[in-house]
Formats: sequence, structure tokens, C-alpha cells
Amino acid sequence: MHGAEKKAFDIAWVREQFPSLKLQVHGHTAAFLDGPAGTQVPKQVIDAVQNYFLTANANTCGAFATSRRNDAMIASVRGTMADFFNCDANEVVFGQNMTTITFALARATGRELAAGDEIVVTTLDHDANVAPWRALEEKGAVLRQVDIREEDCTLDLEDLKRKITVKTKVVAVGYASNMVGTINPVAEIAKLAHAVGALMFVDAVHYAPHGLIDVTALDCDFLACSPYKFFGPHMGVLFGKREHLEKFKPYKVRPATNTSPECWETGTQVHELIAGIGAAVDYIAELGRHCDPGLKSRREALRAAYRATHQYETGLLSRLIAGLQTIPGMRIFGITDPKRFDERCSTLSFRLGDHNPTEIATFLGERGIFTWDGNFYALNLSERLGVEQHGGVLRVGLVHYNTAEEVERLLATLREFVAA
Ligand SMILES: Cc1ncc(COP(=O)(O)O)c(C=O)c1O
Repeated sequence: MHGAEKKAFDIAWVREQFPSLKLQVHGHTAAFLDGPAGTQVPKQVIDAVQNYFLTANANTCGAFATSRRNDAMIASVRGTMADFFNCDANEVVFGQNMTTITFALARATGRELAAGDEIVVTTLDHDANVAPWRALEEKGAVLRQVDIREEDCTLDLEDLKRKITVKTKVVAVGYASNMVGTINPVAEIAKLAHAVGALMFVDAVHYAPHGLIDVTALDCDFLACSPYKFFGPHMGVLFGKREHLEKFKPYKVRPATNTSPECWETGTQVHELIAGIGAAVDYIAELGRHCDPGLKSRREALRAAYRATHQYETGLLSRLIAGLQTIPGMRIFGITDPKRFDERCSTLSFRLGDHNPTEIATFLGERGIFTWDGNFYALNLSERLGVEQHGGVLRVGLVHYNTAEEVERLLATLREFVAA
């Protein structure tokens, strides 16, 4: 048995790393169950941002110390993200957020499209992986949307196979759903895309805090994620296969370099937050080493961290689902069978009787429990499930810094809400 599995998950150590978890609201310790919209950050990230301002605050490529430090820091974090993705450092592009990156990439790849070329998107996805591709309809591209199986909120793979044809040029699929937690078989879908010569774009924003990403094993062409969802600052990062980053031409200003990947990074980047991204990934690696001290490389440490957090989060999820199922009027969306928990992550959405989710979120928020209500921009899914016109759903996001006590507190407060 692996070391990480032998040892109990050290939740006390984890919570010690995140100063904001001690926040008090209305006399309660805040329970951050809002992770899918953005996670809290460990002190390492806060320190890295501060350290940047104190020692390396300058623009890039200057002939003086702070600029050189900034260049070195960016190169180093590119290497860190390469470990995170399992790719080469020159395949890592920093950007404002996933949405902005995806619009820029779609626009650049769209230059090569002809009228009638098809792009496959899905009903399960956040609109940031739909709207940028939909924008190419202006150039005559045709969007084809893959449906879901409503009973468990998984992608309808038969429908997907029907929609990927010789006309398909891009297949844009999410790694995990930010509303119902479903994890999609992206490696399998990449094979289907490549079989017809299409590019595979993966939105890994929701998967990144829950599972190890391996772009080499997935064989995807592009993959985007947002560090603020995996314990880092508010930015986006793109992986692109080198051949594609060199072939496609981004829209850019003339004096800026034509060398990839920098040519994709329009304007001045938020350097201080790039420093924070490096610290966030290093925190995850540190967690892996805390679970399994013998590990050598950062990649091995990341693997150990995700192995441990997956097991821990699955325990919390089981407790949450079992508790929710005892509350009258509860309707949970997505996979609830514990035997299938490898097909989902620990993000869960529900409706409770006819209550508007905002009403529930407000009740919880006043008691220091932070959840989200609405559609979380997964508009296609909210419409498909018939909840859009009723305020969407209530979403509970569990990440590795949450606790069994927080889950029990949530369940007790929901019972209080029902009784009120
Ligand atoms: C699955 C998913 N994709 C994309 C996005 C958009 O990410 P960003 O805020 O970095 O543009 C989000 C944000 O919630 C998301 O959850």
C-alpha cells in the first residue's frame, strides 16, 4: 500500500496553511463551501505576492535587477506549471482568466476555419467553453451541442459520437462540471476528435482543484484552467501543444515578440499573481510531501497530494450525500451512487422543494456557511435541467480544506431551514 493511503489525512496541517479559514462572520467560523467559484489561498501564496512587490516589481526584459528577477520568476513559474500539466515550459501561456484566454484562442484558431466547419460543444459545460466557440458562427462555423443523460448528468457519449464527424474542426469539452461535478472521459473524447482530424480543447477549470492533470496522457491539444480555483490567485493558464502555439497566430501588437508562448500573452501580465501561481502549485506539492515524505520530484509530490485529497474529499462527499438524502423534498442532480464516485468530484447541486436557491443560500450565509445559488454560468445545463427559470440550484463545493464538521453543520442548518 502507498504511504499516502496508509496515513490519515492531516486536515489540521492543511487548515493551518490557510489563514482565512479562521474568519468569523455573525459569531460563526466561516465554512467556505464556495470553492467552485474560487478557493481560499494558503499563506505561501500571500507571501509570494508580497515578496514580488518587495523584490522584483518591474516590467519584463529590462537591463536591471528587478526586471531580471521578474523574468527569472516568470520562467520559473512556467516550469512549475509545466510540472502541473506534465508538458514543456514553452507550452504554458499565462492570461487574465480562462474566459479571456479561450476567447483569444478561439479567435486565433478561427482564422483557419471555413464556412460550414463544425465545432462540438456540450450541454454540461460552463458558458466560457461555449460562447467563445459560438462567436465563430459569425465566420460561418456551425456549432453542434452534445446532450446529457438527465438521470445522472453525464455526457451522452452516443450523441457525442454522432456529432463528431469529418466536418468537425474543434471539440470543446469540460474536464469536470462546475455545477454537478461530473468528470468527463476526456482522453477517450480526444481520441474521437483526433480520429477525424479535429483539435481537442479541454476546460479543466473545475477539475484542477480535485485531480491531477496530465496533458500528455490526455493527448489534448489545448487545456485551460484558473489558478484561483486551485488555491492560487485570480488568473488563467493555458496549455497548448507547441506545434499549435507556433502554427496559430494570436492577435497581438506589432512590437511584442512573435516567439511562442510569450506572443500569446497580450499586454503586461499581472506579474505578482504569476508569482502567486507558482506558490499555489508548490503548496499542493508540499501537501503531497507532507502525506508522503519520501517523494523526489514536484510531479510525484503533486500526484501524492491529489491521491490523498481525492480520497479525503470522497469521504466528505459520501457523508454529504447520505445526509442530504434524509432531508424531505431534496433533489440532488448528478451521480449519487458511491460506487461511481470516481466519475465525479465533490461539487454537488440540489433543489429543496419549491424553495428558491437564493433563499437557502441567504439563510446559510447568515449562519456563516458560504454556498452558491444560480446557474454558475453553466447556462446550457441549467436550462436543460429545467431549473433556470426557478433560480437554478444550490451548490455546495467541498475541497480538501473542508471538514466533516462543516458538512454536519451544513446538514443541521438545512434541517433548521426546512423546519422554519
Ligand atoms: C468549469 C468552468 N469553466 C470556466 C470558468 C471560467 O473561468 P474564469 O473565471 O477563469 O474565466 C469557470 C468559472 O467558474 C468554471 O467553473
